[in-house]
Amino acid sequence: MITLLLHGGAGRIDEARTDAYRRGLRFALEAGWSLLAAGGSAADAVVAAVAAMEADPEAFNAGVGSSLTREGTVECDACVMDGRDGRAGAVAAVTRARSPVALARRVMDETPHVLIVGTAADALVEDPIENEALRTSHAMAQLERWRERRQQPTGSATVGAVALDASGGLAAATSTGGVLGQWPGRVGDAPIPGAGTYADARVAVSCTGKGEAFLRAVTSKALAERLAAGSPLEETLGRALADVKAMRGSGGLITLLADGRLGWAFDTSHLALAWRSRHGDATREHVAVSDEAAVVTLGAGGTG
Ligand code: GLY
Repeated sequence: MITLLLHGGAGRIDEARTDAYRRGLRFALEAGWSLLAAGGSAADAVVAAVAAMEADPEAFNAGVGSSLTREGTVECDACVMDGRDGRAGAVAAVTRARSPVALARRVMDETPHVLIVGTAADALVEDPIENEALRTSHAMAQLERWRERRQQPTGSATVGAVALDASGGLAAATSTGGVLGQWPGRVGDAPIPGAGTYADARVAVSCTGKGEAFLRAVTSKALAERLAAGSPLEETLGRALADVKAMRGSGGLITLLADGRLGWAFDTSHLALAWRSRHGDATREHVAVSDEAAVVTLGAGGTG
């Protein structure tokens, strides 16, 4: 059995952009799936899927097309965690990486550290690009709206993926441009293992939404601990969102268990979501921009 589940962010996604989100989700699904199906690791698959969304200038708040800070710059956070051995790599407030999640992977594989930030993280980028190259006209228009009206325009927060590979290994990855109009130097939950991203031998989790609330709720680690204590998946997902709400936040999360079960939950207007699972001879998949807040769980292989 192999499974890849990814999200393109919770938020309020304009009707006019849903096709771009679906296209981007499909592309990311293929990018991760081709590795998983060839026997690649869950970590390889989640990094490839998230990197595909980071590279998409038409949709998603990550990499190219990230939300802008109040100064009009792009600052990205990303994390990858490998559930087989608990290794993690993360970067925060990076400004010159085409793929922040690939940089996070380098931190995991090539340094003795977990999290490297700011200019030091930028210095690790092998092929640095100008910050302007990450800034799209859509992101600039959104910042203009935010500046004029002092309100949150439409958009989504964060991209992420969780995967189960053929050897039973789990991994999670998350990447984001953060919150529109954020202060320079602000870091959200995405690059913090146990908050926005988590994987162990039993479960992998990636979160999307208001990072401050997910940080305070330590969302993904709390979810893993509740599941390990025997809490049912659906109830645990609902509880995770309730905890985020109690911290004055909203958003969503995706999760995948070592036994093959999938789950997701969100309390925003939309969640961009895609999954594919192969269990024996059967392969199932689904790609959607969901518009009804929900807690959803599926059996191994994506069975209803
Ligand atoms: N959840 C992403 C962020 O708040 O930065």
